Amino acid sequence: MIVAMGVTGATGNALLHSLLTLGTPVRALTRTPHKPIPGITGAHQPPVEVQHADATDPRSLRAAFEGADQLFLAMANSPAQVELERRVIDIAASAGIAHIVKVSAPAAEPGSPVAISRGHHAIEEHLRASGLTHTILRPYAFMQNLLRLAPTVVQGVILGTTGDAPCNHIDCRDIADVAAAALTRPEVAGGTYTLTGPEAVSYPEIAARLRTLTGRQIRYVDLTPDELRDHLIRNAHMPTWLADHVTEIQQLAITRPETPTTTVIDILGRPPRTLDAFLHEHHAHFRR
Ligand SMILES: NC(=O)c1ccc[n+]([C@@H]2O[C@H](COP(=O)([O-])OP(=O)(O)OC[C@H]3O[C@@H](n4cnc5c(N)ncnc54)[C@H](OP(=O)(O)O)[C@@H]3O)[C@@H](O)[C@H]2O)c1
Repeated sequence: MIVAMGVTGATGNALLHSLLTLGTPVRALTRTPHKPIPGITGAHQPPVEVQHADATDPRSLRAAFEGADQLFLAMANSPAQVELERRVIDIAASAGIAHIVKVSAPAAEPGSPVAISRGHHAIEEHLRASGLTHTILRPYAFMQNLLRLAPTVVQGVILGTTGDAPCNHIDCRDIADVAAAALTRPEVAGGTYTLTGPEAVSYPEIAARLRTLTGRQIRYVDLTPDELRDHLIRNAHMPTWLADHVTEIQQLAITRPETPTTTVIDILGRPPRTLDAFLHEHHAHFRR
């Protein structure tokens, strides 16, 4: 049995749908019992079995992992993330889970300029030390993040700090399809994969594509990191740690080229979804 965490979130929910498409049974763990799981209508929709589990509650994890042999681990970013994911890994190992597919991040290394990537490195190290088979997915920014730009896009601006630097975005559904492959195809399990979309596109170019798509005036405005951080805290009401993260990740795109890899096509036998297809699918979101 596969257990999946984070199924109300971006990658976890997409993973659930990838497994449903394959007809693979999965136990979907949800922290908030009454929160709907997008696309899942009933509490028990075969082959999805829904169960409550909170990473802050070891007893709920032990019950949720009973009889399972593989775990998909996607956890929300938070100051507690490293501690929570390490605990999940320890309890999974003691519950008899043999393989964990973890959603990590690029630049997951000890000296990373991105604090959350340093945290992912610490979790990856813990996973490597666990002795379990582990598949590590390091995706670039999710295309789904772009939907969060809608409040300023409808006012005609995209704010950022990356200037003309090309930024790679990947559709969460491709991350999920690779995760599902790792959970269902032994030859894919056990790898460490940097996952990218098919092209790196600068924010001024994203603004231009949205202009074409919506017929509205949308321009990119380049800010300093401090100006962006201030905007995110004051106007988007982000907690400080998250505003820091967004700013750090944008600076990383300038210093490290986000070159597309062939990993998605190598594993799935088809190219990753394109940014144009994503923007077209969600164009109504940017017109409100
Ligand atoms: N966004 C990006 O562009 C990007 C790029 C590269 C890597 N990543 C990494 O991808 C990972 C997954 O991101 P995501 O966007 O899929 O996550 P997400 O949408 O933020 O979803 C997080 C999930 O974690 C669950 N969760 C939070 N606290 C929990 C707890 N105590 N116990 C059990 N579940 C808990 C949430 O449940 P509730 O619904 O109950 O809150 C939710 O289902 C992150 O660690 C991030 O660093 C993200």
